[in-house]
Amino acid sequence: MRIRPMRPDDVEAAERLTALAFETERAADHRRRWCRQIAHVIDTDPGGCWVADDDGGTDVVGVAVSMRRDLLWLLSTYAVHPGQQGRGIGQALLDAAIGYGAGCLRGMLTSRPHYGALRRYRRAGFSLHPTMCLHGTVDRSALPVVDGVRAGTAADLDLVDSVDRRVRGATHRPDNALQMEFGTLLVCDVLTGSGYAYLMPWGVAPLAATNRAVAQRLLWAALARVEPGRPIDVRNLTSGQEWAIDVGLAAGLRLGQDAYLALRHMRPPEPYIPSVSFG
Ligand SMILES: CC(C)(COP(=O)(O)OP(=O)(O)OC[C@H]1O[C@@H](n2cnc3c(N)ncnc32)[C@H](O)[C@@H]1OP(=O)(O)O)[C@@H](O)C(=O)NCCC(=O)NCCS
Repeated sequence: MRIRPMRPDDVEAAERLTALAFETERAADHRRRWCRQIAHVIDTDPGGCWVADDDGGTDVVGVAVSMRRDLLWLLSTYAVHPGQQGRGIGQALLDAAIGYGAGCLRGMLTSRPHYGALRRYRRAGFSLHPTMCLHGTVDRSALPVVDGVRAGTAADLDLVDSVDRRVRGATHRPDNALQMEFGTLLVCDVLTGSGYAYLMPWGVAPLAATNRAVAQRLLWAALARVEPGRPIDVRNLTSGQEWAIDVGLAAGLRLGQDAYLALRHMRPPEPYIPSVSFG
């Protein structure tokens, strides 16, 4: 078994491997998006992306994709083939990815509730914050009139950066173009505060704002733009995100348990909805 840097031609094998390890079959458009995202991180952070393969270099049996955004280290995906788990491959991959974050003060990732993953993250010094999710279709009769939120463009990215720096201490600068390609950027910039949200095909994330009232406006505005009848998810909500839970419940979404937000040397950002791929 060998741990080596991930190459663009490993992306499809990594997609298959993660689908197996996460016990999920992605639909074709989701698979394309997933592959684009991973190829993007290989491009921006080649030193943060690692695979485990057999010595012949053909079969990818493990993957860890991580990035640095300012002084924040983020883990985007992490999996080992189900038949090879529990033998230390995950530890070696995570060590390589965390090594790439040397010098970063803080770390963030969204974790699945998997025994081996939680063991690895806690033993790497991450604090595990349980999370909730909102799921369902929006009750359109509950939608309030929301002022001050508009569709954003590339001209708003300085504002997005400023809000990100303040709320989570690091921007999503290299990732915004891709997120704007997959979803709709919404921006709120009023006298009382500023914020942004991405409405993605599956739900709302990331979202950040300088105060809860602006965050609530953005979430309502995003929910109003969801195609009627289409189910959506608002995930990775730590207990501090009650502003989001209140909006979701008022909009008729169902609240349930999600997994964990794993953080190192930082408190859960707030008001904030993290993205699974980009933190
Ligand atoms: C999380 C994951 C990548 C770790 O890879 P791995 O090769 O299993 O990791 P390791 O063998 O280095 O570590 C797993 C730890 O859990 C323990 N463990 C015990 N039972 C286990 C089991 N049934 N499966 C996996 N690990 C088990 C191992 O002993 C080990 O702990 P230790 O080294 O402190 O003794 C892998 O288990 C996986 O792909 N899980 C499913 C997908 C997932 O949840 N990924 C994380 C997304 S956030």
